Amino acid sequence: MAIKVDALAPNFKAKTTQGDIDFYEWSGDSWVIFFTHPADFTPVCTTELGTAARLKPEFDKRNVKSLGLSIDSLEDHALWVKDIEETQRVTMNFPVIADDEREISILYGMLHPFEMSNMAVRSVFVIDPNKRVRLSFTYPLSIGRNFTEILRVIDALQLSDRCQVSTPADWVQGEDVVINTNISEDEIPALFPKGYKKLNDYLRLTPQPD
Ligand code: BEZ
Repeated sequence: MAIKVDALAPNFKAKTTQGDIDFYEWSGDSWVIFFTHPADFTPVCTTELGTAARLKPEFDKRNVKSLGLSIDSLEDHALWVKDIEETQRVTMNFPVIADDEREISILYGMLHPFEMSNMAVRSVFVIDPNKRVRLSFTYPLSIGRNFTEILRVIDALQLSDRCQVSTPADWVQGEDVVINTNISEDEIPALFPKGYKKLNDYLRLTPQPD
């Protein structure tokens, strides 16, 4: 069963390239980007792990920990990490789960019936400090994920949690945002002192509050 957005992320224990973890303990008060890989020694996955490692400073700024998973053994992971570091010119700076028993892939609904059945699909879960799944998406095996988009969505989620706003299509940091529809006109001046533009009763834009 796929895990739905806003559902509680199930806890699990796992062996990883950085030692054994209990997911809830390991994640602590951080956000998590949990992304899965079909198999070790595969080209697209190799570039994705390299990209995530390179972006660690950006994830750190946002209080986000990265966690990878692939359905292979720790021994294979150790060899693959060497390939990733060599070809992508990075240091692997976050753990990758060895899910060779597929327990976590099954728990998170990552085994796709229409893809090669013994592989996890290319899923991403963004999980907040309350352990709620705030975003999930799945790509086909042949297409690498866009980590700039993952960072953009994390920015949008964190802003919307802080400021009672939503983000319009293609929003990026610094652009106008949408005032949530549950905020009355009377409340707007105190909550959004930078002013607002009313396009109609439900579409009110304000400069990014912070
Ligand atoms: C890849 O990461 O390149 C890949 C993984 C599984 C199937 C096909 C491609």
